[in-house]
Amino acid sequence: MAVALRSLLRPAWSLAPACLLLRAPARLSSAGTQFQYLVVEKKGVKQNVGVIQLNRPKALNALCDGLMNEMNQALDFFEKDPDVGAIVITGSEKAFAAGADIKEMQNRTFQECYGGSFLAHWNRVSLVRKPVIAAVNGYALGGGCELAMMCDIIYAGDKAQFGQPEILLGTIPGAGGSQRLTRAVGKSLAMEMVLTGDRISAQEAKEAGLVSKIYPTEKLLEEAISCGEKIAGNSKLVTAMAKEAVNAAFEMTLTEGNKMEKRLFYATFATDDRKEGMSAFVEKRKANFTDH
Ligand SMILES: *[C@@H]1O[C@H](CO)[C@@H](O)[C@H](O)[C@H]1NC(C)=O
Ligand SMILES: *[C@@H]1O[C@H](CO)[C@@H](O)[C@H](O)[C@H]1NC(C)=O
Repeated sequence: MAVALRSLLRPAWSLAPACLLLRAPARLSSAGTQFQYLVVEKKGVKQNVGVIQLNRPKALNALCDGLMNEMNQALDFFEKDPDVGAIVITGSEKAFAAGADIKEMQNRTFQECYGGSFLAHWNRVSLVRKPVIAAVNGYALGGGCELAMMCDIIYAGDKAQFGQPEILLGTIPGAGGSQRLTRAVGKSLAMEMVLTGDRISAQEAKEAGLVSKIYPTEKLLEEAISCGEKIAGNSKLVTAMAKEAVNAAFEMTLTEGNKMEKRLFYATFATDDRKEGMSAFVEKRKANFTDH
């Protein structure tokens, strides 16, 4: 089974056409921006969830420079849109993203990588202030797994597979895989995945804490959007503080993290939304947050 899957995946890894050579039709987003490798839309009853769908089907959504540049534009666009309270990143039913575009890397020299800070702009997703949910169906391998792990929440389809197979190509993860995977699943499993290149299933990923929920393939995106709507219904201001506080747990000591949490907690008391939230609770009505 593993061997069959590996040979099935081989073409995606080794033969993905270079981005610039792929003539996918350009698509128009609601912002009027043209995207070649993405479909970018607002979803949800209140149109308050930004959805970015990777759309490079022939290459199983292999991540190339052009796609990541478009991803950054789409994120900037949703980050600035005051109506958007959460962002969902997804791929196709077959592949979230089956890796980075190996053709783009094949002949790169150390000097080009180091001198040009290769992949440096690929971590934009981890810098977004609004919550980002990855909805992962199919393969999330290499750069695809790293992209999912840059998101705040990962939902998986029941046939999703996660892996960091760089070692099989004579390299190692280069967009945070060795760091974020280890923090998410612990040393033993992360080490095993990075050293063997073996993939884990959605079920294993959930048991290990990489993924928070699993849904049937065809239900996944709507469930991720529904989670985004739940988040977008709260105060966007306080949501940003909550995200900042949780992220501090990955960057700081416990003492420093707790201090930062306290400062942010106190800061919520300066907001109209904290006042409204507590008043609504006491008055047994639904809070009407204004993001102030
Ligand atoms: C990389 O170099 C090899 C050997 O010179 C060549 O055969 C191959 O086509 C090159 N690949 C790309 C993507 O340019
Ligand atoms: C929520 O508050 C805003 C601003 O105060 C107000 O315009 C709006 O009508 C309120 N919405 C509801 C459902 O009460």
